[in-house]
Amino acid sequence: MSSSVSSGVAKSSGRDAGTKSAPGPILLLGAPGVGKGTQAKELVKIWHIPQISTGDLLRSNVAHSTKLGQVAKEIMDRGDLVPDSLVNEMVAARLLEPDTARGFILDGFPRTLGQAGWLDGRLAAQADALPVVAVRIQVDYNQLLRRITGRRNCPVCQAIYNIYLNPPKKDGICDVEGAALIQRADDTEEVFKERIHSYSTLTAPVVDHYRALGRFAEVDGDRPIAAVAAGVISAVEGLRNWA
Ligand code: AP5
Ligand code: MG
Repeated sequence: MSSSVSSGVAKSSGRDAGTKSAPGPILLLGAPGVGKGTQAKELVKIWHIPQISTGDLLRSNVAHSTKLGQVAKEIMDRGDLVPDSLVNEMVAARLLEPDTARGFILDGFPRTLGQAGWLDGRLAAQADALPVVAVRIQVDYNQLLRRITGRRNCPVCQAIYNIYLNPPKKDGICDVEGAALIQRADDTEEVFKERIHSYSTLTAPVVDHYRALGRFAEVDGDRPIAAVAAGVISAVEGLRNWA
């Protein structure tokens, strides 16, 4: 369902990279499981700018057992946050890649006021950078738990499924790659509770920070994926004065 819905959004919107100026930096904010990754992939298709998911980058480091991955693994398995200095350094390296020139979608970053301050400074130092626009997706707790415990991912193309809400056509198999789907190590109820705790204590102030700066919108994430995507797209367009 994810891929067919995704194409539907891109086609029905009639938008493409050529019809708008550079989208610039877009932040997707929200609790674990609200759909940041799912929606980031929709925006990538429309605006052709990269998704930068700090969770995905960290998991890749864990999978390759890099020095960062070795430090991060235990922290992620507990549901705590990886130290700002390590995450900022990882994002700094990613932002040097040329594919970020027209903009990028930050998914899961910044997650602390320290990270937000670092990002704000990094973008302010770049004369031609558009200001950040931030969209917070909201979903209630019980729905989040269902999304987290039912999530399955394709290890090859990173497509995101849900056994209850957004299942693949064939049980346990990616629609696109035919690969066996996997479950994230932190997608248990116990670790989810820790992640929610980290979100409420450390990330909620980041939401307040961007709300106070303006160029901030909230979108109801408790709707079908395509409807949420339409909401996120129109929020970004409104914040960029494209609407
Ligand atoms: P990360 O990977 O970022 O996890 P998270 O923030 O907990 O968010 P999730 O990836 O769980 O959810 P999502 O919002 O992307 O939802 P998704 O689209 O998958 O971080 C993992 C860990 O890494 C952290 O705990 C921390 O340790 C570390 N880390 C990462 N960034 C860090 C940072 N900046 N600083 C420090 N540490 C950091 O969707 C969820 C499910 O719902 C899927 O099954 C999907 O199919 C389904 N779904 C989505 N939308 C809908 C819909 N509209 N209707 C029905 N189902 C839907
Ligand atoms: Mg994610």
